[in-house]
Amino acid sequence: MTDAADVELLERIRRDLRASLSERRYRHVQGVVETAKRLSPRVGVDLRQAELAALLHDLCKEWPTDSLSDVLRRHHDTVWLDFSPLIWHAPAASYVARERYGIEDVAVLEAVYYHSTGRGAMGPLDLVLWVADYIEPGRDFEGVEVARRLAEVDLALAFRYAIKETILDLLERDETIHPTTWQAYNAYTRKTKRGAPFRIDRFTEA
Ligand SMILES: [Fe+2]
Ligand SMILES: [Fe+2]
Repeated sequence: MTDAADVELLERIRRDLRASLSERRYRHVQGVVETAKRLSPRVGVDLRQAELAALLHDLCKEWPTDSLSDVLRRHHDTVWLDFSPLIWHAPAASYVARERYGIEDVAVLEAVYYHSTGRGAMGPLDLVLWVADYIEPGRDFEGVEVARRLAEVDLALAFRYAIKETILDLLERDETIHPTTWQAYNAYTRKTKRGAPFRIDRFTEA
């Protein structure tokens, strides 16, 4: 893709998002784009891929549940329907991004696909998008500062913290937990425990 065509595509996606998302959600997407681009060089992620994945990740977040399930059914990807509708927008956005914008970059499509659940084999772009989505400047919840500090040190530690908090929250709300979320938790618990034991308390002070 030429640079000009690329800029045009990003502009088209931005225009569509501005027209279809609430003001609040559009600001969130902007925050994720900025944060993803800031984190990317640390793990060798291409800035254009980071921008594209971040722009697209919540493309379908405000769609009605019926439209999301239609997309998933059309793609014979119905396993999602056994879990909370809150996470359907992630795989749906991946399919819609491919259909509507002709995006074929598998790393971008997969990062979008797994942005709400995580997965065992998170690529660097998955990691950047997940952490950026969790800590972007508009986020304000208990623990977000811990995640931000961890992200400054190590994205894997930040992700492990975020996925654990997410699981705890899901358990608290009696929600089901998607299998790839457990796979992500297990993979990153192993990864972050190798060498020094994982000690979150090092990051919760000061
Ligand atoms: Fe999302
Ligand atoms: Fe998001």
